[in-house]
Formats: sequence, C-alpha cells, structure tokens
Amino acid sequence: MTDKLIIFDTTLRDGEQSPGASMTKDEKLRIARQLERLRVDVIEAGFAASSNGDFDAVKAIADHIRESTVCSLARANDRDISRAAEALKGALSGSGGARIHTFIATSELHMAKKLRMTRDQVFEQAKLAVRFARNLCDDVEFSPEDGYRSDPAFLARVLEAVIAEGARTINIPDTVGYAVPELFGAFIRDLRQRVPNSDKAVWSVHCHNDLGMAVANSLAGVTIGGARQVECTINGLGERAGNCSLEEVVMAVKTRRDYFGLDVGIDTAQIVPASRMVSQTTGFVVQPNKAVVGANAFAHASGIHQDGVLKARDTYEIMRAEDVGWSANKIVLGKLSGRNAFKQRLQELGIEMESEGEINAAFARFKDLADRKAEIFDEDIIALVGDESVTA
Ligand code: KIV
Ligand code: ZN
Repeated sequence: MTDKLIIFDTTLRDGEQSPGASMTKDEKLRIARQLERLRVDVIEAGFAASSNGDFDAVKAIADHIRESTVCSLARANDRDISRAAEALKGALSGSGGARIHTFIATSELHMAKKLRMTRDQVFEQAKLAVRFARNLCDDVEFSPEDGYRSDPAFLARVLEAVIAEGARTINIPDTVGYAVPELFGAFIRDLRQRVPNSDKAVWSVHCHNDLGMAVANSLAGVTIGGARQVECTINGLGERAGNCSLEEVVMAVKTRRDYFGLDVGIDTAQIVPASRMVSQTTGFVVQPNKAVVGANAFAHASGIHQDGVLKARDTYEIMRAEDVGWSANKIVLGKLSGRNAFKQRLQELGIEMESEGEINAAFARFKDLADRKAEIFDEDIIALVGDESVTA
C-alpha cells in the first residue's frame, strides 16, 4: 500500500451541482488553473455528456492543464463514455493524462426505483462500461453510486468484475451522507477483503456532508478502510450540504502526519487563494468560523489567547496561517500603498489577471478609491476588480 494520499478535486463537477453554483467555461478554466497551482492530483472537470457547455468546459480544461490528471464523469453507457473521451483528448499530451470516471447505482433502492434495472442488468452494464472506457483511455475510475447503502456481497461482485475489466480506481460514494466514521471505515475494509483482486486498484472514498461528517468519514475510509484517494471540493462545495472539504482533509493529514503517516502533494499556500476564488466565482460565502479558510480561522480575540500567541504561537495555533496562504503580516492597503502590495493582495485573494495592462487599470481604480477611503478592505478590491477577474 502506498503512503501517498491522492487528492481528487471535484469542485467543477460535484461542487457545481450545488444549486446556484453553476459556472461559465472561463470561470471553470480559471479555477482549474488554480487547482493545478494547488497541485491536486486529479481535477474532475465536469460531466462532458451532460450538455454542450459542460463538454466545452471539460475540453478547455483538458487542453490547458498539463500537470494534474483531467477527468470527466460519464454514466455507464457508450454515448457518455465516448463524449468524455472526446472532450479529454487534449489532456493525453499533458504529464497528468486523462481519466474517465464512469458510474452506475448499486443500491437496491436506486436500482429498483431509479434505474428500474435488475442486479444482473446493473452488473453487466458496469462491466461493459468499464470495458468500453478502457478501449478509449488507460485510466478508468468506477463508482457504484449509493455504494454505502448497497448490499456488500453484490457490490463486491460488481467491483471484482470491473477491476478485472481494467478499472484502476474504485471509488465508494456515500452519496446521501448517511455514513458515520467507524462504520464507513469498516465498510471499506470489509469490501476490500471481499474483492479477491482488490489490490489491482486504488481505493477511493467520496463522502457527502448531510450529517456534517463528510471529512470524518473520508478520513475513516483512509485509516480504517485503507483508501488512498479522497474525493473532495474546495470549501466543501456541493449538492445539499456539500462534499468533503479539500482544505480540511489536506490540513488534517498534514498537521497530524504523526497519526496518518501519509503524504499529500498539495501546495498548501495555494489553499486560501483557491478558497477565495471559488467563493467569489460562485457567490457562496465562506462562514467566518470555517476551519482553515474562514476569516476567523486564525484570529485570536480573547486577551488570554492573544497574550499566549504573542509569547509563543503554538500555544493556541496548531497550523501556521501563512502555510495555508493567509498573509502573515497583513499589510493595510490605502492611498500610500504601491503597486506591488496591491498585486500581492490580488494573488492572496485568488484574483488572476491576464496582463500587466489589466493590473495597471485595476491599480488606477484602487488609487482613485483610496483617495476617498482611508482603508481599502478585501471586499473593496473584489468589487473594484469586478468582472475583469473572471475572464480566463
Ligand atoms: O455522490 C455520488 O454518488 C457521486 C458519484 C457520481 C461519484 O457524485
Ligand atoms: Zn457526489
């Protein structure tokens, strides 16, 4: 078993399924570039067959991203899988390559009521889908949707068959966020024991946050279950109560490396810029007390805590704010501030500008505002940069 934890980001696919969070192609490409700077291992860029817009977004990301693996979701049918493969072509020349992620539901409830298929039909379709996908792409991931509420014996039969067809990653979703950590971890461990060829695939977990346990469940999937890939989103964005939050999983594994014993390839200094970028793009505000990326995550208000931190930071800090991308000595921006300080704040806010000309124009607007306002806050900068920051 490897000691690396693969970080699979699905902000642009499952995150976008959050009501009101839909993004344009340019916005998605801008976020994908930030995810690459963050050094996520896999970027799930979208669901290519779901619309022409999604196809174009997956294609644009596959054409531009070089380091991370670019992935598209596809239902377990030939049309979806062909569309995914078509959109992903550009990624084949990048060092990260392309991945097709195909899925079909395996719980009795979903098979009977949603798919109206028998167990045997689902078994056959899963096998054929992975076989078809492997003819188009070397890297294929399979997910049994609603996996956690599926009968383990049937699930194991399906998973053994799709691994034999060449699925390299087996991802177990807790689609409705029903799991609790110890049980979920044991479920993954038991499943791996039931599948005779389980060691031919990387095991992955994909947890939703309906009971507020997506991060805890994912980590139990890793420690108890032996999963080595976690599917997650920036700020925990996602349908209903959201997905497992990338920043929390990554910082838990890094901060408690003594316990997890795993490496993650993430450049943690890019976490806060990524969080800001996703929040600005979707309009989903990050709660102030959100772990790692909330405005108060590193703020000390009580006198005792302030005194302690001034004497020794680790009295009340288990992580360094600057390690996750908060600036250590926050410079107050005002009319005397220079272009470099302004440019650095743009970067901290996750605002990417195409050219020096655009930065100059934004800097001129900043100076105008600073003549009228003593202190310029982050919200002012976001407002004055406005739409220009979302053009990739
Ligand atoms: O939650 C889920 O089951 C999914 C699958 C498509 C992986 O998002
Ligand atoms: Zn999901």
